[in-house]
Amino acid sequence: MYKILKKKELTTNIYLMDVEAPRTARSCQPGQFVIVRMDGEGERIPLTICDYDREKGTVTIVFQSVGAGTVMMAGLQEGDSFQDFVGPLGCPSELTKEPLEELRNKKILFVAGGVGAAPVYPQVKWLHENAVSADVIVGSKTKELLILEKEMEAVAGNLYITTDDGSYGRSGMVTQTIKDLVAEGKQYDICIAIGPMIMMKFVCLLTKELGIPTVVSLNPIMVDGTGMCGACRVTVDGKVKFACVDGPEFDGHAVNFDEAMRRQQIYKTQEGRAMLKLEEGDTHHGGCGNC
Ligand code: NAD
Ligand code: FES
Repeated sequence: MYKILKKKELTTNIYLMDVEAPRTARSCQPGQFVIVRMDGEGERIPLTICDYDREKGTVTIVFQSVGAGTVMMAGLQEGDSFQDFVGPLGCPSELTKEPLEELRNKKILFVAGGVGAAPVYPQVKWLHENAVSADVIVGSKTKELLILEKEMEAVAGNLYITTDDGSYGRSGMVTQTIKDLVAEGKQYDICIAIGPMIMMKFVCLLTKELGIPTVVSLNPIMVDGTGMCGACRVTVDGKVKFACVDGPEFDGHAVNFDEAMRRQQIYKTQEGRAMLKLEEGDTHHGGCGNC
């Protein structure tokens, strides 16, 4: 069992939890994720790791209570436990594999949308701890939904907050701030965009035009997290990839976002899963609990 040591509501329906998971905390790297399950019957919920403390043996997760599983999760309190806390899963961020000297010469831009600020934070923190500076744009619908501002401020080179309704920081979506920064003379060698699929799609369309290589972190439907069930299938550069083992990071300019968003929608119903099976062949589409 994996005990919840701390629980905090960051804003309406968005929660942070520190979970006692020493083995995961010892080996996880920025960019990786975990799959949690409250009990034997519970839904498997994939969550990108937001932070970790190797000495205390804790892993921090941030989630939004939107579906049945996450709403039940939000009901857990400090002292309660998860039955399963599987991870670290997926590949660590590519940035963590590059020589630090090269990284220090790079102009790096992170773009975080909404809850996507949680998976962006450990990457920027890791870079900061290794004396690598990165600019960060955090986009939120409105001021009340903004999360991790103070934490991000402490590790970002420059932090640009933008709200869709203009209630705080700059006004407009993250793509507007990218355009503004470039128009102000900023140049970037790489962009890492994490947030809702639609945001990543439009950031990639823009950065392709601007000639900025872009990495995205995909968080599609996941079931087993080990490459067996096929639920997290995405097409990248015309090839089938599985986000849980080949990703979650991919070259954003090569991802077929329209297909990924369509799959995410269809997957929500039993009928839709049957249709995917028909379209995509024998790949098992999960949900049956047999994997
Ligand atoms: P949101 O809808 O509030 O959007 C966040 C920001 O993204 C907006 O403020 C805006 O700046 C930008 N954005 C949205 N649509 C855009 C568009 N069409 N063009 C340009 N920019 C746009 O975000 P949310 O409610 O926090 O998102 C929740 C979704 O994000 C969930 O579906 C969740 O699964 C996903 N998510 C993904 C990851 C990941 O690892 N990729 C992590 C956390 C959450
Ligand atoms: Fe990736 Fe099953 S979740 S293949």
